[in-house]
Amino acid sequence: LRTVPPLQLAETYFKNYPEEVDPVWGNPCGDTRHKKIWSNNKSCDSLPSFLVIGPQKTGTTALYTFLSLHPAITSNIPSRETFEEIQFFNGNNYYKGLDWYMSFFPVESNSTSIYFEKSATYFDGDLVPKRVHALLPTAKLVTILISPAKRAYSWYQHTKAHGDLIANNYSFHQVITASDTAPKPLRDLRNRCLNPGKYSQHLERWLSYFPPQQLHIINGDTLKSNPIEVMEEIQKFLKIAPSFNYTTHLRFDPNKGFFCQIINGDKTKCLGKNKGRQYPPMEERSLKLLQRYYLSHNTALSEATTKILPKLHNTALVKLLKRIGLRNIPEWLKDDLSDTP
Ligand code: A3P
Repeated sequence: LRTVPPLQLAETYFKNYPEEVDPVWGNPCGDTRHKKIWSNNKSCDSLPSFLVIGPQKTGTTALYTFLSLHPAITSNIPSRETFEEIQFFNGNNYYKGLDWYMSFFPVESNSTSIYFEKSATYFDGDLVPKRVHALLPTAKLVTILISPAKRAYSWYQHTKAHGDLIANNYSFHQVITASDTAPKPLRDLRNRCLNPGKYSQHLERWLSYFPPQQLHIINGDTLKSNPIEVMEEIQKFLKIAPSFNYTTHLRFDPNKGFFCQIINGDKTKCLGKNKGRQYPPMEERSLKLLQRYYLSHNTALSEATTKILPKLHNTALVKLLKRIGLRNIPEWLKDDLSDTP
């Protein structure tokens, strides 16, 4: 038996197993051998029970805020580094490791609350479902869907309001029609506008790792018009009892044009002015173009819902839509499909 110094050993190992160079953090609580070599101050409770995965601009901040009002639900502790969102499973934070992630969910003695985190870019991140599944195989996942065309426009307006040069120099129509030979920053903005809205594609990826029972889809239009109903449904999905009565905590604020938190009985506290922005309506030609652009994705979603396409019958997406009760196609999906020339 012969060995070599650790570094050399590692180099040889990764030469033989190049697919393992990129780490995938597994769940230390899934194997007693791993638990044994863990230090005593680590706990399996320092991980979230559910994730709000996005996509961006669908109402994720409103949902995060409403969930945080619940006495039995706690969000990750805030971080100066990441502000509200941890964004662990996508991007470079993943390489900060498990201890870094778990530090956002400190174990509190006698707490019966469950932890969650909301990172809106998880939804469309290529590696995210695989990574989430490796670490949190039993976690529940919550996503919100709105018209992908409106989502794209909302993202453009968001970027523009943040002073982004490209968004301020190019119209929305120019951004979404930018060609592959356009300058990179323009293509990047186009992609951030367009890619997250390919819902069926992203959902199928999540469903290749998670059973449909673990995924809950919220209609973003209902979140706006009737968040109380949405919050009731999500509590059922999370199996949280007794149910927290949101009717005494949320009220429609006519000035804001959205539901806001009730404070001191008669006042409301709304989300900041960067949520629920005022901006001109989308140009008709952009809307038509996007409805055509998303046609195949929207059709897959709607056909999965109505079970029209036999070849889609037993896909995980169909099972999911049946389970979450999307018996009725959401109005935004009907509109996007019916208006398509
Ligand atoms: P707009 O600002 O384009 O209207 P996110 O938090 O994921 O970035 O989503 C922002 C969107 O949440 C807003 O987009 C707004 O339409 C929507 N939203 C849903 N419920 C809301 C609420 N109660 N207050 C403010 N915005 C809400």
